[in-house]
Amino acid sequence: MKRVTYISNFTDRMSFEDVEQIGEISVRNNTRDDLSGVLFCYRNVFYQVLEGPEEKADATLERIKRDERHGNVFILNVEQDIKERLYPDWKMKTVVLDDNQDYLVRPIKMMLDSIARNHRWLEKYSPQTILKAIQNGEDPTRLPPRQQDALILFADIVGFTTFSEFMPPAEITSLLDQYYELMNRALLRHGEIMKMTGDGLAAHFSIEKIPAVIEACIQMQRDLERLRTRQGNRSALGHLYTGIGLASGKVIATNVGSDLRRDYTLFGDSVNVASRVEGITRKVKRGLLFTDTVASRIEGRPALSRIARYNPKGKSEYIDLYTIDLPELKLPPRDQIIAGIRSLQAAHPNGTKQLVAGVVS
Ligand SMILES: Cc1cc2nc3c(=O)[nH]c(=O)nc-3n(C[C@H](O)[C@H](O)[C@H](O)COP(=O)(O)O)c2cc1C
Repeated sequence: MKRVTYISNFTDRMSFEDVEQIGEISVRNNTRDDLSGVLFCYRNVFYQVLEGPEEKADATLERIKRDERHGNVFILNVEQDIKERLYPDWKMKTVVLDDNQDYLVRPIKMMLDSIARNHRWLEKYSPQTILKAIQNGEDPTRLPPRQQDALILFADIVGFTTFSEFMPPAEITSLLDQYYELMNRALLRHGEIMKMTGDGLAAHFSIEKIPAVIEACIQMQRDLERLRTRQGNRSALGHLYTGIGLASGKVIATNVGSDLRRDYTLFGDSVNVASRVEGITRKVKRGLLFTDTVASRIEGRPALSRIARYNPKGKSEYIDLYTIDLPELKLPPRDQIIAGIRSLQAAHPNGTKQLVAGVVS
């Protein structure tokens, strides 16, 4: 048998009757499927424990996840091969805590509130691989190292140091937020963001995703162009350009760190190469640049074009670099972008040099 514990949020305000109705359907189905458990509701949070035969528990959980009355289902715990049930007699005990003023119930309400809140926060800050391991009931600190073929992406804002010299922290944060909103929305559909370090973004994808990621990068550059045009050159966003570098090959994905702090990270030749290729985007004035191994996966794509060669540090061979030859992927010369950013400095109330702590470019 298996036991699953999750939290979720109501999508709409639910009445006591709505929750009772969920309880009734659950009791009917769970009796049929030999499942048991408990469902707590407090404010807009559901907390459910579901236990029973693995196949039935999985099927029911899939139905529950698809239910539009709630969203953001976050699995807190999965216990495999349980021998005993916690709630053998409850086919689904539904408990609505909202109106319960019992002193003993108060700490439970507070606990549900904080579990829900903390997991929403954790979800935003943790790598998906780690979240997925938790949701599958695995111990993320024990994920074994894996060698895999991956597509690595690095992106970096052109002239970010110049922005950071005079923009106040709140403004530069808002600039980065708008940038990442655009980048993350496009990339997260296909893979995982590894890091956002100041203005530097690193992400990885499975190799099969190469065509989709290339199209997503083109779309991001188009969206960025639209944003610049809309904001005009009197706004910092009007001078926001980014260079994206891609490389593919074998990488090692592993858990590193100490008992005090751990991270899930990827390393290998293609990680270094992708970072170097991103650096070259400014030199060749292209917003998207990728290696020959990436290009070989989109052979025949219109406008695929070889534009540079690159000699990786410590290696004798050269790597051919490609782009997609589209006007929206051209970068203005770096000096021109920097001059544009500097033109904002005079008009800026904080026009003096002011470095934003912790931001590196
Ligand atoms: C928070 C929540 C918990 C639920 N728990 C169960 C459950 O334990 N068992 C169940 O069969 N359905 C449960 N449901 C309902 C399912 O999502 C789904 O509506 C139902 O299983 C469909 O049953 P039917 O095909 O018999 O109409 C739950 C729904 C919500 C929103």
